[in-house]
Amino acid sequence: MSTQLGKTSESAGHSTPNPVKVTTQTVVEMKQKGEKISMLTAYDFTMARILDSAGIDVLLVGDSASNVMAGNETTVPITLDHMIYHTQCVVRGVDRALVIADMPFMSYQVTSKEALTNAGKLMKEAGAHAVKLEGGAAIADTVKKIVDAGIPVMGHLGLTPQSIYQFGTYQVRAKEEAEAEQLIKDAHRLQEAGVFALVLEKIPSALAQKVTESLSIPTIGIGAGQGCDGQVLVVHDMLGMNKNFSPRFLRRYADLESVMTEAVQQYVSDVKSQDFPNEKEQYG
Ligand code: KIV
Repeated sequence: MSTQLGKTSESAGHSTPNPVKVTTQTVVEMKQKGEKISMLTAYDFTMARILDSAGIDVLLVGDSASNVMAGNETTVPITLDHMIYHTQCVVRGVDRALVIADMPFMSYQVTSKEALTNAGKLMKEAGAHAVKLEGGAAIADTVKKIVDAGIPVMGHLGLTPQSIYQFGTYQVRAKEEAEAEQLIKDAHRLQEAGVFALVLEKIPSALAQKVTESLSIPTIGIGAGQGCDGQVLVVHDMLGMNKNFSPRFLRRYADLESVMTEAVQQYVSDVKSQDFPNEKEQYG
């Protein structure tokens, strides 16, 4: 019988009333056992509830909320207050999954003191279980300060969308040897600084596998191939809610855009034709 975080259960199954919670230790143990880690983004209560019940291990309240929820072109505009709001919504929908909140652009780059204060807000005000920061050696001291305060940190290397104005494109990163070498060094620097896991975004699969094999912490890939310890996708993309976005790494598990469009078209038609509501759908 396990008693993790005050819940008691004999099973990690999502349908049990008191599921064993996924913790940062759990994901590290999953790497050690060779069990792959499933991670998706979530930004709201209802989606988080569905994903958690379906058995997802980790939910990332990604700053991709800036694109997916707010319709911005980049992740740059989203604020700490927005991330706190989205994280609060997700945490309310979750019984089992580990919830990680992205620290938004400029909430951790100015000083490590400010970074710690802001990471603390995501934990205390929003209820996140961990935070994620983009960057390598340049943020390692900040990562250490946050970890030393008792806040688990996930790293993020490769394509780091908060730096889009520096990169200029969303193309695959670290194809050249110098950048690949730097990425390996950054990964190890982050591990030393105390990150419990590392996202690798849009890098060659051979490089991701090399990094994964050289680290004791798990890697979670997005467009980084099958050699990573886990995978993450933006949930709206994998559910097929954004037909205009078709990168090579994306697998669509549903065509919700078509399903929703047809449902709404039918509703509009039923309202216009007075088929809805019928006798059974109204009160006497
Ligand atoms: O914000 C996000 O959705 C992310 C994932 C793509 C890893 O950082």
